[in-house]
Amino acid sequence: MMDRRRFLRTACQACAALAVVPAVASLESCSSGKPLAVDNGTLNIPLSDLSKSGTTVVRAQGLGAKLMVVRRDDGSYTALLLNCPHKNGPVKEKGGVLTCDWHGSTFDSEGKVTKGPSKQDLKRYPVTVEGDQLRVAVG
Ligand code: FES
Repeated sequence: MMDRRRFLRTACQACAALAVVPAVASLESCSSGKPLAVDNGTLNIPLSDLSKSGTTVVRAQGLGAKLMVVRRDDGSYTALLLNCPHKNGPVKEKGGVLTCDWHGSTFDSEGKVTKGPSKQDLKRYPVTVEGDQLRVAVG
């Protein structure tokens, strides 16, 4: 049985792992740099195109900002819009933290605001895995 001290240490390590944004890869449709197509409000991304141990930045039609797909250790995914809710500044990964270029708001890998001035979390899109595709409901 795990004692309380060991449990807390393990839990804190899990929290720290969630808070830090893993290494970022970039995914665009071929070398032309065109955004990925959105079909009936759904963005389909082959799982094989996503980083297995980190995050992948995706440009998709009609979103107006890049999308970050985060793969967790348990194999689940989160899709975050990299657009700051404060005044629509671009959000980028800097040293493992999602940071807004304009006024410095920061967000964790779940999109939760960790430092203002933004008072809102990043927009998250529902995701499902179907076969070998990640489906992101962006519409
Ligand atoms: S627009 Fe992002 S902190 Fe102001």
